[in-house]
Amino acid sequence: MADKTNTDPQRMEKIVSLCKRRGFIFQAGELYGGLNGCWDYGPLGAELKRNLKDYWWRTTVQERDDVVGMDGAILTMQQVLVASGHVGGFSDPMVDCKTCKGRFRADNVASMQCPEKPSCCVGGSPKCELTEAREFNLMFKTKMGASADENDPNATAYLRPETAQSIFVQYKNVLDSSRVKLPFGIAQVGKSFRNEINPRNYTFRSREFEQMEIEYFCHPEDGMRLTDEWLETRLKFYEEIGIPRTKLHILDVPDGERAFYSQKTYDIEYEFPFGVQELEGVAYRTDYDLGVHQKGSGRPLEYFDEETKEKFLPHVVEPSAGCDRTVLALICEAFDEETLTDDKGKEDVRTVMRFTPRMAPIKVGIFPLLKKNEEQVRIAKEIQKKLQPWMNVFYDDSGAVGRRYRRQDEVGTPYGITIDFETLGEGGEELKNTVTLRHRDSMEQERIAIDALLPWLLERVR
Ligand code: GAP
Repeated sequence: MADKTNTDPQRMEKIVSLCKRRGFIFQAGELYGGLNGCWDYGPLGAELKRNLKDYWWRTTVQERDDVVGMDGAILTMQQVLVASGHVGGFSDPMVDCKTCKGRFRADNVASMQCPEKPSCCVGGSPKCELTEAREFNLMFKTKMGASADENDPNATAYLRPETAQSIFVQYKNVLDSSRVKLPFGIAQVGKSFRNEINPRNYTFRSREFEQMEIEYFCHPEDGMRLTDEWLETRLKFYEEIGIPRTKLHILDVPDGERAFYSQKTYDIEYEFPFGVQELEGVAYRTDYDLGVHQKGSGRPLEYFDEETKEKFLPHVVEPSAGCDRTVLALICEAFDEETLTDDKGKEDVRTVMRFTPRMAPIKVGIFPLLKKNEEQVRIAKEIQKKLQPWMNVFYDDSGAVGRRYRRQDEVGTPYGITIDFETLGEGGEELKNTVTLRHRDSMEQERIAIDALLPWLLERVR
């Protein structure tokens, strides 16, 4: 069993630096000093994130008969969040330091740095003078409409703190419009916002982030079994995107630590370089959510079972994953530094992002061996045009081909193809119209016919 407190700050520093240098992740508003807790994804980060969301959607919604999708509004009515309990209780305990004026989450104060004396932890400096803990609501509140009156409660709206609530609120509309029958799920991917007291660990705890959530509605007696089934489904998903089971930990959240309405909660955790931390929660939420919205809205939300003639409030199993956290896990898992020794015994470190081809931001690098060879360039561009409708590719004709391979290794491109003299038929008829195909991980090379490239790649990158 891995030591859950193991950390590797040096590795994390290298990852953060690569992410900026190669255009995966930038701090939001960096030009103006940065917006704390918010991140922008650069060209490669955007591709990676899109690949993750697309694969989640495909395997969760499109390839299943029992899950449909939705895309709800971010701005959320106050009444919804009053009924759900968020207005009254979605808070973290906060303490202030009267000396340095810093604000800290009371539950992890011991691990926070004191801005007054960075070498010590909050509460550890003799100068620290902490207030009693107070509850701080994590929701971003706003006013709707140009004539919104500060005191009009109907003008108040919130940026949603989770995607789940619009699913519960629309459950009846989906049920009535989609001919779904229990058990069935509604899935959603989208932004959520939480005014975290101390955003930290790079993108791990952000103030604006994306979630990938499923609310799976079922008969009460199936809740526990389906929770275990969903846990397995979700673990398989992580394996399919390149996060091995050995790096995942399942925390069966004990009684007393779960939300009061939850009969079972599993946290799926990953071994980040800053410690073992939560990626996703799989929670059996009973009929709590539909119950509070039925009460809050005064509208019936029961399900009528045609076969048994039973009327009841469905129970809910909720696998709720963080998209940004999973992207971060993919990046941390992929990062590798490999020492290579050449024929003369000289050592060199190769930085390689070992993304699974399905997640890789660029699927294939296309390289004419010689930039000045018109025929090689023509064929390379033709291949680029042929592959582009199917996948993200990168054309590069500058510098030695070895350096071009290395640049692609560093961003995790699993395959490189080089259009060379053999392609033009100079190595014999049998090699004409073939290209060199180089594998990122093994660095092995083989030849493949241009006509076979697209099906060969499609089989591996989807
Ligand atoms: N609907 C249930 C729900 O929202 P949660 O455990 O609060 O449950 C689910 O959030 C997932 O959303 C977490 O496991 C995590 O991956 C992600 N998440 C939550 N807060 C986050 C934050 N501040 N920054 C990044 N991801 C976050």
